[in-house]
Amino acid sequence: MTHGLDLERGVGEILIDETALRARVVELGAEISADYAGRDLLLVGVLKGAVFFMADLMRELTMPCEIDFMAISSYGVATDSSGVVRILKDLDINVAGRDVLVVEDIVDSGLTLSYLIRSLRARKPASLEVAALLTKPERREIDVPVRYVGFEIPNRFVIGYGLDFAERYRNLPYVAVLHPDLVPSTA
Ligand code: IMP
Ligand code: MG
Repeated sequence: MTHGLDLERGVGEILIDETALRARVVELGAEISADYAGRDLLLVGVLKGAVFFMADLMRELTMPCEIDFMAISSYGVATDSSGVVRILKDLDINVAGRDVLVVEDIVDSGLTLSYLIRSLRARKPASLEVAALLTKPERREIDVPVRYVGFEIPNRFVIGYGLDFAERYRNLPYVAVLHPDLVPSTA
């Protein structure tokens, strides 16, 4: 099977394996379930990277919840965010008066999330929090409150479990560093 070999050629060091991902998602699910007990939660996933984390996290939640998605485009180069973002797909559900939890794959500079939070806050949700699977604190350019964090990682470009490099590698079941041979020199 050449397909598997091709996929793994881009993979560098594995940072978070399947077992660790699973264990952390279970912990976050328990924490969120306790915090939102008795409430009706709306999970807002940011396409496309958050889909995998969101699907696993949602199945750990013990209260009623709905999901919706937003798609955002950033005008940055391949591995960098410019902070200039555009909403490509907006929510179907009205968030006014709702308890909203934004689910993100990774917070890097924080610019995308910061824009998203401003846009959602203007729609007057009852509460608004963020759950991010990964965060790169060293890269933060703007302070964004992330209530639930899966893992803090170093300043490396990562792939897998939803995270892509040029739309590839999302299907890896672990989080790995992109192979150094593939990292663009401009980043
Ligand atoms: P920010 O606006 O710089 O925080 O960028 C956030 C978005 O950039 C994330 O939602 C990802 O789509 C993407 N991103 C940032 N770092 C990485 C990475 O290491 N691997 C894959 N995508 C990343
Ligand atoms: Mg992305």
